[in-house]
Amino acid sequence: MSDAPVYHNSIGGEWLPAADGRISENRDPANGELVGIFPRSGQAEVDRAVAAARQAFDGWRLTPAPKRGEILFRVGELLRERKEDIARQMTREMGKVLVETRGDVQEGIDMAYYMAGEGRRLFGSVVPAELPNKAALAMRDPLGVVACVTPWNFPMAIPSWKVMAALIAGNTVVLKPATDTPLSSLKLVEAFIDAGLPLGVLNLVCGTGDEVGMPLVRHPDVAGISFTGSNDVGRAVNIAAAERLKRVTLELGGKNAIIVMDDADLDLAVEGIVWSAFGTAGQRCTACSRLIAQRGVRAELEQRLAERVSRLRLGHGLDAGTDVGPLINASQRDRVHGYMAVAREEGAHVLVGGEIPTEGDLAKGSFYPPTILTGVTPHMRVAQEEIFGPVLSVIEVATLAEAIAVNNDTRYGLSSAIFTRDVNAAQIAMRDLSTGIVYINAGTIGAEIQLPFGGTRGTGNGHREAGLGALEFFTEWKAIYIDYSGRLQRAQIDS
Ligand code: UN1
Repeated sequence: MSDAPVYHNSIGGEWLPAADGRISENRDPANGELVGIFPRSGQAEVDRAVAAARQAFDGWRLTPAPKRGEILFRVGELLRERKEDIARQMTREMGKVLVETRGDVQEGIDMAYYMAGEGRRLFGSVVPAELPNKAALAMRDPLGVVACVTPWNFPMAIPSWKVMAALIAGNTVVLKPATDTPLSSLKLVEAFIDAGLPLGVLNLVCGTGDEVGMPLVRHPDVAGISFTGSNDVGRAVNIAAAERLKRVTLELGGKNAIIVMDDADLDLAVEGIVWSAFGTAGQRCTACSRLIAQRGVRAELEQRLAERVSRLRLGHGLDAGTDVGPLINASQRDRVHGYMAVAREEGAHVLVGGEIPTEGDLAKGSFYPPTILTGVTPHMRVAQEEIFGPVLSVIEVATLAEAIAVNNDTRYGLSSAIFTRDVNAAQIAMRDLSTGIVYINAGTIGAEIQLPFGGTRGTGNGHREAGLGALEFFTEWKAIYIDYSGRLQRAQIDS
C-alpha cells in the first residue's frame, strides 16, 4: 500500500469516490513518483454530476450576475493566496518548470478577476424598435448544464477559461480534467467551494475521455461542450454532439511559426524562439514548431540557436537550475522521438537534440531534449504535423510573401509571429497571417486572457475562448419586444 493521498470527485458538493471503487494513479513524469490516487469514474458518476448540475441550475441562473461575480472574485483571491502551493503540486503532476506553473495559476487568477468584473457588465443591447411605443432589446441567457473537458498542459489556466466564463454567464458545470492532471483541477474546484459557490454549480468528475468525456458529450441534459485537446478527439466530440445538435467549442492543435526577417533584432528573435519552442517542453498549443527564416539570417540563426539550446538544462521542474522539464508521459516522449526517423527519412538534419536521455536521473522520467531540425521544406511531415514536444523545424525562405505563404499553408491556424524592424512588413504580416493570434516582435506563446484565444482552419470550429468571445459561446441571445402602445402593431406591415 502506498501513502499517497487519495482524492475524490466533487459532485453536488460531496467528495465521492467512483461508485465501483475504480482508481487511477497520478504520477510525476520526471521520476515516476506517485502524486495521488484519483477516482476512475464512469457513466454512473457522469449521470450523478449532470443531475446535480441540473438541480443547481435555476438557483444559479437566478443569482444576480454581480453576486456570481463576487464569488469569482473570491476565487481569484484564494488562488492568489494558494498560488505557490498549487504551482508546486502542478509541477509534480505534469512536469513543467515552476516559473511556468506559477504562470499557469496566474492565468486562472487573471481570468477570475476578469470574469468577476463581467458580472457587472454582461452587456446586451437596447436598440430602437421600428414601431411607435415599442421597446426592443437583446439579453444573454445561460445554456444550462455545460461540460468542460480540459487538457493536461495548462491544468489551471484552461479549466479557468472555460469554467469561469460558463459560471459568470449563469451556467452550471461538470468539469472533466485530463487523466494526467486531475489534481490542479481539484484545487480549482476547492477554491470555488471555499469561496462559497452553491453546491452542485460546479462538479468535478475524474476519469478517461472514453469513460467520462464522451458520456458527458452524449448526455441529454448537457447543453454545451467546451473541449480542448487533440484534433482526433475534437472531431469525435463534434460528431457526437452534432447528433443531438449541441453547441460545441473546440480548441485543437497548432503548427505555429515564427518568421524572422533579415532586418530583425536577432538577439531578441533568438530569445523569442527559444522561449516559444522549448518553454513547457514545446507542449503548448501555441508552441513555435516552425522557424521560417529569411535567407540572409538563416545560417546565423541556426548557429546561435544551436549554441543557446545545447545549454538548456533538462531536469525536475522544481529544481532551480532546470530550464526544461519532462514530457507528460513516456508514450508522448516516444511519439515525439518517432519524428526523428520521419525527419531523417524526408531529408532533414538533426542539428541538436534528437536522442532520448538514458543516463542518471533523466532516465527515470519522460525527458526529451530540445531539438532543432534543419533543411526542412514546407511540406515535410515535420513541418505540417503537430509534434507537441520540444522540436523546432527550420525552413528557409527568400521573401516576406513566401514566409507568409509558408506560415499559412498548414491545416492549423492558431498562432504566428514575425520579427522585423520594418513597419511595413509588420503591417503586411498583421493583415495576411491567417492565424487567430499574431505577434509582432514576440514569440508565439503568452496570450493574455482578456483577448480572444483560438485559431482558424483545423485549430478549432470558429469559436474563441477567454476575452468576451467566451461569453458568446456560453450564452444564448434572447431578443425581447415590449409593446406599450395598447394595440396590435404588426412589424413589417404597419410600419
Ligand atoms: C495552450 O497551449 O493550449 O498563450 C494554451 C499561451 C498561454 C496559453 C496556452 N497563455 O501560450
